[in-house]
Amino acid sequence: MPLIIKDEYPETFFRKDGKRLDGRDLNELRPIKMEVGVVENADGSAYVEWGNNKIYAAVYGPREVHPHHLAKPDKGILRVFYRMATFSVFDRKRPAPGRREKEISMIIADCIEPVLFLELYPGTSFEVFIEVMDADGGTRCASTTVAALALADAGVPMRSLLSAVAVGKINGKKVVDLSGIEDKAGDADLPIAITWYNEEISLLQFDGDMDLNEMNDFLDLAKDALKEIHQIQLNVLKSKYVKLQDETKEKQKEEKKGDK
Ligand code: CDP
Repeated sequence: MPLIIKDEYPETFFRKDGKRLDGRDLNELRPIKMEVGVVENADGSAYVEWGNNKIYAAVYGPREVHPHHLAKPDKGILRVFYRMATFSVFDRKRPAPGRREKEISMIIADCIEPVLFLELYPGTSFEVFIEVMDADGGTRCASTTVAALALADAGVPMRSLLSAVAVGKINGKKVVDLSGIEDKAGDADLPIAITWYNEEISLLQFDGDMDLNEMNDFLDLAKDALKEIHQIQLNVLKSKYVKLQDETKEKQKEEKKGDK
């Protein structure tokens, strides 16, 4: 059964003023808010609200590999567990991880791996648990972005951050960061992730119908959006350390007062 009956789609995805139905320009991201250090028990964690998506990522590691046979003698392994909560979507989602979740977990691990120094951690694993609490299109990209932030929060050595976004085509127009309904009704959907240390694409998927010549335009559109997302990630990490620094200074002041 389709998630949305085709007749329920709006007739057009653009308003008279050329903007999208949610008021965005074609190249405009949804509002994005990120936080780090949100899960007390994890080595590192992050949270993102990306439009209507709400996603947590928690990182554990380096730690012993379970089951043991997965351990590699010459390098560490990265395991990603992307899950969508049963209440995160409108349709009934089975609680057990389905094929889609396994595929998304695998592609997120594959695109994050290049930024990690796994060769420095033989016999161990890094595990990233991603929980989508509310889903509205582009969750694999938002999850990749928030997972990178959680790894950085955990202090895992990284070559750089990575960021991801989907670009696509709706009624022939190229748009960035498709919402759930745009994703389902659009003509094409192209999730892209970039690793910033070498500015290489580490994830590129494609769903729909697109002329090969259009690819460069899509990459340009994605690159500007990815830069914006990267800046938000950097700002969040920076503010964590500025806060820590301020707290330490405050503590030192208090201690000095106590000495007098
Ligand atoms: O989330 P993303 O675009 O990366 O993945 P997708 O498989 O293309 O799914 C697009 C959207 O469909 C998701 O973000 C959810 O909003 C929605 N979805 C759903 O409603 N029910 C599902 N079982 C799976 C996805």
